[in-house]
Amino acid sequence: MSNVAPTPSIGTAAVLLDDLRALRRGAPALAGLEPKSYARDHAAFEQLSDQRGLIAEHLAGRLATMGDGPVSVLSVGCGDGSLDVQLADSLVLAVPGRPVRYVGIEPWSGSAGLFTANMAALGADELSVDVHVASFSNAPLDETFDVVLFVHSIYYVADVEETLHGALELLRPGGELWVLNAPRGALNALVDVLAPPLEGHRQWFSADVEKAFIDGGIALDEIVTLDALVGLASASERVLDFAVQARLTPELRGPVRAYLDAVSVPGADGRPRVPHPVDVFAAARR
Ligand SMILES: C[S@@+](CC[C@H](N)C(=O)[O-])C[C@H]1O[C@@H](n2cnc3c(N)ncnc32)[C@H](O)[C@@H]1O
Repeated sequence: MSNVAPTPSIGTAAVLLDDLRALRRGAPALAGLEPKSYARDHAAFEQLSDQRGLIAEHLAGRLATMGDGPVSVLSVGCGDGSLDVQLADSLVLAVPGRPVRYVGIEPWSGSAGLFTANMAALGADELSVDVHVASFSNAPLDETFDVVLFVHSIYYVADVEETLHGALELLRPGGELWVLNAPRGALNALVDVLAPPLEGHRQWFSADVEKAFIDGGIALDEIVTLDALVGLASASERVLDFAVQARLTPELRGPVRAYLDAVSVPGADGRPRVPHPVDVFAAARR
């Protein structure tokens, strides 16, 4: 008889997910994440993933193709700006002295304040920054942009198709819309089971976004997938809650950790990692 533990399988994960579904059936919705700790818990989650670095590199590469002139970016759902600050810095460094306009939309004022502070810390005179504390649908914008960017924020809008059309209207002719969103993969299957509904809808994943582009008659230039991994084996309770987008009750934590273990693959260091891909949807304003 072997002492080696059996390798977790997709079948095991499916059974564990069904068990979680059964635990939740008929139960009241779990509490959602609180605005005041959202950005902090998100930052702690990203520390365990290589996705943020892959996104920054990918988007900086796209921005580098946009010429040497003045450039403007609208980041929708900018959060604390920890990604945007890297992109703004790359724009400033790429062409010294050229004007860079960077605007954020963020409904949670604490996160919006951090966005402003992080951008100010760059100390770049050629960088003009504003943030609107608002949802995308009610942000008071009276300017257009070269790039409109949604990084992990379109999950939360009420209507994806309407949002995409609204975003295109904010672009200059030839401007680029980039929407980064996760598929309903191993990790987000948990979100589907555990996260409370948002204003009457579930979170939108990549298939929903692609459908909205198609149904809305918006020509997609391409969809690129960045294959990231996140190490959640020893994640804190708050990080685990962020991963499933809900405040877990004590009896759910064990089953959630068992599921995450079952869907993990070995990382480069041999330690378990959960697949954490992100899809990049790109379209231009014709
Ligand atoms: C996962 S965070 C991503 C933050 C940032 N883009 C990043 O990648 O670090 C999602 C952000 O979307 C914001 N958000 C939620 N609903 C929104 C809406 N209707 N319009 C704009 N932003 C929204 C949240 O407040 C949150 O800061």
